[in-house]
Amino acid sequence: MLKTAIEYNEMLSVLGRRLQPNAIRKLTLLLGSKEVISLAAGAPSFETFPIEEIAEISARVIRERGRFALQYGPTRGQSALVEAVADILHTRGIDGCSTSQIVMTTGSQQGLDLIARVILDPGDVALVELPSYIGGIIALHNAQAELVGVRQDDDGIIIGDLREKINRARAEGRRVKCLYTIPNFQNPSGVTLAAQRRNELLDIADEHDLLIIEDDAYFDLHFTDEASRMVPLAALRPDRVVYLGTFSKVLAPGLRTAWLRAPEEIAAKVEIAKEGADLSSSVLDQAIVIESIREGLIERRLPELRKFYRVRCAAMLDALERFAPAGSRWTKPTGGFFILMELAGTDATTMLMDAIESGVAYVPGQPFFVDGTGANTLRLAYSKESTEAIADGVERMCRVFKSAKAQANA
Ligand SMILES: Cc1ncc(COP(=O)(O)O)c(C=O)c1O
Repeated sequence: MLKTAIEYNEMLSVLGRRLQPNAIRKLTLLLGSKEVISLAAGAPSFETFPIEEIAEISARVIRERGRFALQYGPTRGQSALVEAVADILHTRGIDGCSTSQIVMTTGSQQGLDLIARVILDPGDVALVELPSYIGGIIALHNAQAELVGVRQDDDGIIIGDLREKINRARAEGRRVKCLYTIPNFQNPSGVTLAAQRRNELLDIADEHDLLIIEDDAYFDLHFTDEASRMVPLAALRPDRVVYLGTFSKVLAPGLRTAWLRAPEEIAAKVEIAKEGADLSSSVLDQAIVIESIREGLIERRLPELRKFYRVRCAAMLDALERFAPAGSRWTKPTGGFFILMELAGTDATTMLMDAIESGVAYVPGQPFFVDGTGANTLRLAYSKESTEAIADGVERMCRVFKSAKAQANA
């Protein structure tokens, strides 16, 4: 019998055909084995991983409780961890959380994927910040939502623009379902939503019956007293907010342990969706996190971690002050891993190859902007490199920007 070639593309769903590799992953492939200073990598520094302590805890957990830790577990998560998360939420001002509101997830990324699938129908409008986190954009996109961007300034979401975007979408007869926001030390901009705006945003959510998806991945990594006092939206209006937190940035992302807190009815649906995704998150990883919490490993290291990233952030801000081309501007984060730089009229993507040739990499900003703007922006991460490498990298990068500008003006 004659064998015909299989047309795999024909087998794909509409969504499957729409799926595109994300721009940051493409950049990682591009960098390959090149030795460059990476201001692109947005992950925590491996220097912050408590490797010895986790090795000791893991060995103990497997030896003493291996029968449970290596078994399947409840979809919602290990009850000791769910209770510990309720305590963490309490310290963040999100009081009275019953365990029925909490679902442990395989990273916050899974939480984003599940909540998007549970609340969005194809064509529903999901509002996102301009710029926003790529993983969040992907999750909402995979649920076939229509993504509408809301502009930010140095104080986060611009309330007037939020109103305008909601009114415009509604006037077009579209259902505006939710707003995805990263209010603290946002990825990729480093910006924090001002206290006053938090209340205004929640009032708008009430007015238009929106659900807020609050992604607080960097909550613990604040650099100033003021930043440490920021109140989560979920603390102000728990019935309107789905709140996501993670152990990735304060312990280790490889443990893939995070949580989602939502009103009970929504949490129940997320649990069912999760059952279809992975039955449960890794019981072993959760057991390691439980022990880390019990032994005070996370709490004890927080001041050190904050200092670690604060010093690197200061080194990057200082280098930008010294080397940035005239007319450019950048955000001044009070926590987290990222600075967003805006160039005067030049395209950050076209200069990336030259920057890589000069030994430094960054992430061009455009993929973070769902409205296709942001070509003159770039994301700089200070999480990975040493302060010396940050200064060196920023100098090299700015040299490329300045020479591109000089050529354009010649
Ligand atoms: C804003 C934001 N949300 C979620 C995540 C994903 O975190 P997790 O490791 O918990 O999946 C990241 C990781 O970079 C992030 O920056």
